[in-house]
Amino acid sequence: MSKIINSDALDTLRKLPDSCCRTCITSPPYYGLRDYGADGQIGLEDTPEQYIENLVRIFREVRRVLKDDGTLWVNIGDSYAASGKGRNRDGVFNEKAENIQSARQKKSQIRRTIEGNGLKRKDLIGIPWLLAFALRADGWYLRSDIIWQKPNAMPESVKDRPTRAHEYIFLLSKSSRYYYDAEAVKEPAVGFYNAAPAGSAGTGKPNARRRGNSRTFRGGGAYTHDRAQNNSATVERESHGLTPNESGKRNRRSVWTIATRPYKGAHFATFPEELVRPCILAGSRPGDTVLDPFAGSGTTGAVAEQEGRDFIGIEINPDYCEIIRQRLDTCCRKGAKP
Ligand SMILES: C[S@@+](CC[C@H](N)C(=O)[O-])C[C@H]1O[C@@H](n2cnc3c(N)ncnc32)[C@H](O)[C@@H]1O
Repeated sequence: MSKIINSDALDTLRKLPDSCCRTCITSPPYYGLRDYGADGQIGLEDTPEQYIENLVRIFREVRRVLKDDGTLWVNIGDSYAASGKGRNRDGVFNEKAENIQSARQKKSQIRRTIEGNGLKRKDLIGIPWLLAFALRADGWYLRSDIIWQKPNAMPESVKDRPTRAHEYIFLLSKSSRYYYDAEAVKEPAVGFYNAAPAGSAGTGKPNARRRGNSRTFRGGGAYTHDRAQNNSATVERESHGLTPNESGKRNRRSVWTIATRPYKGAHFATFPEELVRPCILAGSRPGDTVLDPFAGSGTTGAVAEQEGRDFIGIEINPDYCEIIRQRLDTCCRKGAKP
C-alpha cells in the first residue's frame, strides 16, 4: 500500500507517529542546482550552511519516525561554488550539455554563484560530506559511504579536472545495531578465482591471493557463512578474515556501478530503480514501510511496491504527486502480473 502526500516534508513528518517506518531512501534536491517550482522547497538557500541546516532538521524528524532498528539511505550530489544554466557546475559553458537538455530541463536550472565564506568560484563545495558530518553530529550513526559510479555520466566540457562520474549514498542508522539484510544484497564473488581465458572454462582454482600465500594480502573478502543478517561484531570479524568463501558470493561492496536511467515522466532528477533496490532489500522486510520525504517521480515508491513493501512518499510539487500516482498505478507487487 502506498500513500502519497503533497506537502512540505517537515510539515508532514511532524504529523507522522513515532517508529512507523523501517527505512528511508531519498534524494534531496541538490544545492543551488534546480528550481522545482514550489514555495518552501529545499535547495535554494543562500548558503550551503543553511541548506545543510534545513536538511538536518528534516532528517531529525525522519529519525523519530523510523523504528529503533531503522536506517536512512541518502543519495546526494555535490555542487560547485558557481553553477547554472548551460554551464558546468563550476561555471564553464557546456555546449554539449546545453544541446542534450530539453527546454523543460533548462527552464528548471538556476544560475547561482555562491562565493565568500571560504568558497571561491570553481571550488567544489563538498556538500555530501558536510551533510554526513552534520547528520552524525545530530545523532545518526554514519555507517557507510557508497559511491554510485555512473558509467554513462553526462559529458562535461571541463579541461582542468576529471569529469564527475559519481555521487554518494550515505547509509546511516538510528541505533548502533540495526536491521541490515546483507544476505539479500550479496554480489558475485568476482575475482576470487583465476580468470578464464577467452573461450575456456578457466582453472576454477582460487588465485594465489585468495590461497593466502601472498605476504601482502590481508583479507578483505566477505566470509559470512550465511549469517550476514546479523551485523554483529563476530560477523564483522569474519567478513575480514581468510576463511574460504565457497558460496560464489561476497558481501556487497561500497562502489555501485549503475547507469543513470531517467524516468519517462515529467521529472528531471530521478535516481535509477536499480540504485534503490539494494537499499530496500537490505533495509527492510516485505510488509515494512519505506519512506521518501523528497519523492520526486516516485522511484523509491515504485521499487517498494515491486518488492512488496508499503510506501509513504512526501512531495512538495503537486504535479509530481500526480506523476507518482500514475507511476504507482502501473507498477505492481512482485510476482503479480502487470
Ligand atoms: C532530487 S528530486 C527527487 C527525485 C526522486 N528520487 C526520483 O527518483 O524521482 C527532489 C524532490 O524534492 C522535492 N522537494 C523539494 N523541497 C521539498 C520539501 N521541502 N518538501 C518535500 N519535497 C520537496 C522536489 O520537488 C523534487 O521533486
